[in-house]
Amino acid sequence: MAESSSDLRRRRWWRSTTTRVLAGVATLAATATVLVTAPGADAAASTLGAAAAQSGRYFGTAIAAGRLSNSAYTTIAAREFNMVTPENEMKPDATEPNQNQFNFSAGDQVYNWAISHGSRVRGHTLAWHGQQPGWMQSMGGSALRSAMINHIQKVMAHYQGKLAYWDVVNEAYNEDGSRRQSNLQGTGNDWIEVAFRTARAADPSTKLCYNDYNIDNWNYAKTQGVYRMVQDFKSRGVPIDCVGLQAHFTGGSSVPSSLQTTISSFAALGVDVALTEVDVTNANTSQYSALTQACMNVARCVGITVWGVRDSDSWRSSESPLLFDGNGNKKAAYNSVLNALNAAGPGPTTTPTTPTTPTTTPTDTTTPTTTPTTPGGGSCTATLSAGQSWGDRYNLNVSVSGSSSWTVTMNVPSPERISTTWNINATWPSSQVLIATPNGSGNNWGVTIMTNGNWTWPSVSCSAS
Ligand code: XIL
Repeated sequence: MAESSSDLRRRRWWRSTTTRVLAGVATLAATATVLVTAPGADAAASTLGAAAAQSGRYFGTAIAAGRLSNSAYTTIAAREFNMVTPENEMKPDATEPNQNQFNFSAGDQVYNWAISHGSRVRGHTLAWHGQQPGWMQSMGGSALRSAMINHIQKVMAHYQGKLAYWDVVNEAYNEDGSRRQSNLQGTGNDWIEVAFRTARAADPSTKLCYNDYNIDNWNYAKTQGVYRMVQDFKSRGVPIDCVGLQAHFTGGSSVPSSLQTTISSFAALGVDVALTEVDVTNANTSQYSALTQACMNVARCVGITVWGVRDSDSWRSSESPLLFDGNGNKKAAYNSVLNALNAAGPGPTTTPTTPTTPTTTPTDTTTPTTTPTTPGGGSCTATLSAGQSWGDRYNLNVSVSGSSSWTVTMNVPSPERISTTWNINATWPSSQVLIATPNGSGNNWGVTIMTNGNWTWPSVSCSAS
């Protein structure tokens, strides 16, 4: 019988992930005991966030501070999503209402809600022609250039080390692929790269993104214009880590057949790609599954964010474009997205090579695995302790003692996935392995782990330099 395309995808995914995991295991074997557990049955995840975490991705939503007192809203948001974008609260008019007077109260409210529910946060947005405070709208030239730099520095300093991604520049291109005229563009064509360089210096721990709409169709002039900018930045060493396709398939747009080509083409430049503000007119199920599938088919498509929780929360509510109706019921499109996320495959089954991991639940407060090692003279120890837990995930706190110059390797048993980290610089040799180094926030840090049914704690090892 011919292999179905979904079987084929699954097999390809399996092969590439297995290779990545084995590479990670080989690297680790030299320095640490590697604990690998066989996962349980392939249970499909039942929430968007958990389903996305199975393939190392996130599923997010826009959150509005003004709705956080609505329990129907927060119940769905907390249950389904593991990435949060503040819908308006980190925009320039919200964070700097008067020049050099900053207000982070609404942004912090969204941030704190997200983190306390095991979610990561995408900052949105630092430099944009839209939603500027009045004082900025009437500014231009070198005064505006300095004000933009100051804004980026101060806002990023406030959230230093806390955000997974920042939309540094939003919507800077015209439909024909040229630069959009704006007061920022008027400060000089180099304003975008100045924004990114300023951002990297202000917070090296966060990933820096360019975000725009109508850049989904590979054969569209605007997509090509943005592509050439990212290509140019990469070739000249201008710091850029990610591209966000807003993916508003509302207001007359629909999912183009070339979406996957666009995602993979950006990814091939060496940036993460995400769908950052998804909504679809009348939540058309085939368009929702197509856009989800397009992301799942590209390894470097890191996640999808829908632009609101329920239809009644949407900025385009008359088009009923989201995954939950106004009463909080799941719509047909919800199931098509969930199925596409689940079909991207759970973590790979790896044959145990070492004795099985002791099973400790996050409510167990005894000290689990600590592995001090002593390369290069110093030594350090990483100690885990339980944090808060939810139905599908738990927080672990990590405390490092000994050297202040440490590298902690965390090996997460499949099919668990780390969805959030805080107070560290994180790199990922594979989806099961986290390398943590200090980011200036001290020696106490943590992770949120999506269990996917396995509550076994990860193993950690610490090396000092
Ligand atoms: C929208 C918000 O959803 C609205 O509440 C606000 O009135 C206007 O902005 N592109 C973006 C988002 O990058 O910030 C916009 O959000 C939608 C279009």
